[in-house]
Amino acid sequence: MALSRADLARLLSLEDPEARAALHAAALAVKRRVTGPVVSLRGLVEIGNACAKDCYYCGLRRSNGAVRRYRIPEEDVVRMARWAFDRRFGSVVLQSGEIESDENAERIVRILRAIRAFGGEDFAVVLSLGEQREEVYRAWREAGAARYLLRIETSNPALYRTLHPADHSWERRRDCLRALRRLGYQVGSGVMVGLPGQTADDLAGDIGFFAEEDIDMIGMGPFLPHGQTPLGSVAVDRARQLRLGLDMVAATRLQLHDRNIAATTVLQVLAPDGREQALLAGANVMMPNVTDNVFRRDYRLYEDKPCLEDTSDRCLGCIERRVASIGERIAWGSPGTPPHYLRRTAGS
Ligand code: 5AD
Ligand code: SF4
Ligand code: FES
Repeated sequence: MALSRADLARLLSLEDPEARAALHAAALAVKRRVTGPVVSLRGLVEIGNACAKDCYYCGLRRSNGAVRRYRIPEEDVVRMARWAFDRRFGSVVLQSGEIESDENAERIVRILRAIRAFGGEDFAVVLSLGEQREEVYRAWREAGAARYLLRIETSNPALYRTLHPADHSWERRRDCLRALRRLGYQVGSGVMVGLPGQTADDLAGDIGFFAEEDIDMIGMGPFLPHGQTPLGSVAVDRARQLRLGLDMVAATRLQLHDRNIAATTVLQVLAPDGREQALLAGANVMMPNVTDNVFRRDYRLYEDKPCLEDTSDRCLGCIERRVASIGERIAWGSPGTPPHYLRRTAGS
């Protein structure tokens, strides 16, 4: 039985610690029934930090002149993906700011082909490269990308407009998600929580959006101000941001049983065990950074990004310990295809 929007908004406004613990426990029970006590890993490669967009909250926005821009050479991106493959990650995510050029599109095609040459069909390559023309999405799909992540940021178009310049279009973003689904991608989206001006009803609407748009994979994290952005001086209560981030994971799992839900890195900024708390509130995916250490500092969406000094080896060891600490296990070598995708494409 689906919860109503009002029910969800109520769940997202709980204050009482016991009521919140009950929400998380109910969501964890759903996850354990659907996927077992299993965490799926994706290796995250931050392949470049140039961005043509100017989102008011993000440290990589094009107007931020303080960022040293980098682009990892193709052979190094492939090497980092290979590192993840050799360590039995089932999946790798290639993420960058948004660049719409033929040159960039072709670079990605070459990288995808090189990864497919060793990874084959069972190593899922995920792209997170922003809004693109449908032809570009098609070319990337044909070159071997199985999944695409594109956060809608908020399902409320009016709130979206307060967070972006006038030439950034909520409708285009939604249409990109629809194009990705038509092209046969496993489609991921997500939102930020605790945005200035965002209400519990907006968050309930976000869960409705994931349902309506048939989103297979969901990544959500609390908004954290970045000093070199227009929203840099917004005051946030960090304890509240963490609570909201976790409650949103739990409410989403309760409503949408069969989606992959990420325990996002930003939660780790708000509490050392923030990601484990998310796994215990219904998340089932973690995305350890597998980018070479020298690039990590320049990829800063928000402040206090963790693991800047850590190597990929260290992060992997850290993740293994953290997953074991809550009594779950890692699905080594499995691509971790979202059950919702398998269901919606069964028989077609
Ligand atoms: N705080 C939290 N999340 C952020 N993102 C960008 N900037 C911030 C911030 N200041 C998120 C957005 C984007 C994703 C890659 O990172 O949701 O889609
Ligand atoms: Fe670019 Fe994404 Fe940051 Fe917006 S959130 S400025 S699209 S990297
Ligand atoms: Fe990088 Fe813990 S995940 S050190």
